[in-house]
Amino acid sequence: MNDSGIRATGLTKSYALGRRTLEVLRSVDLEVPKGDFVALRGASGAGKSTLLHLLGGLDRPDRGEVWVGQQRLAGFSAAELTRFRNLQVGFIFQSYHLLPELDALENVMLPARMARISVADARERATRLLQRVGLGERLEHLPAELSGGEQQRVALARCLVNDPPLILADEPTGNLDSRTGTAVLELLLELRAERGRTLVIATHDSAVAARAQRVVEMVDGRLADLAPSSESRL
Ligand SMILES: Nc1ncnc2c1ncn2[C@@H]1O[C@H](COP(=O)(O)OP(=O)(O)OP(=O)(O)O)[C@@H](O)[C@H]1O
Ligand SMILES: [Mg+2]
Repeated sequence: MNDSGIRATGLTKSYALGRRTLEVLRSVDLEVPKGDFVALRGASGAGKSTLLHLLGGLDRPDRGEVWVGQQRLAGFSAAELTRFRNLQVGFIFQSYHLLPELDALENVMLPARMARISVADARERATRLLQRVGLGERLEHLPAELSGGEQQRVALARCLVNDPPLILADEPTGNLDSRTGTAVLELLLELRAERGRTLVIATHDSAVAARAQRVVEMVDGRLADLAPSSESRL
């Protein structure tokens, strides 16, 4: 298995808005050793989701490079990038992106089926993960028949179904009550401790950031380190 540490250098990303350009990332550098947990903080609109998308190969930077282990994402063909995202990255989107016509179980099985896992194995893995996030009784619910927090947990189970070495989570506890949020965080921390998974989590939640090895904050398109001890004051 490839090393899942991240090395991002000089990441720059702008969006064109009519005649104006919105510079979201201005030369961002970030290194996350394999098996570390980095929390990404910053005000709404600061660029956290944008950065996570670049790290997971969901979007390309204007300038700069992302390496995951020995792999340079800019060097991948479209097919290689798809395969990388399917097998090596678990991405929990802020807006979940569940497929509305598939039920919870089918949504979670999908990445495993894309990775050519048999239906029976995919179903077993997906069922186990959904039970693990407290949704064993909701397997056949369509996303529209799930609460926001339940959809978020389906997205978490889907992100983990191929046991990816790198987990990028965008506000994974944003819609959860504190008990469910703690359970989700514990699950991610266990994967890190037991399986050496690398975690980058964008979060406004101090309880999540307090558990990270390192906390970085996006300000004016750049990243700055926050001392973990300063977390309680944020
Ligand atoms: N496709 C796009 N086109 C134009 N502007 C965009 C696009 N995507 C994001 N932006 C802008 O880029 C900025 C950063 O967005 P981003 O989603 O990365 O913020 P964020 O830090 O994740 O915020 P939040 O905490 O609210 O999730 C925002 O001001 C947003 O309006
Ligand atoms: Mg965001």
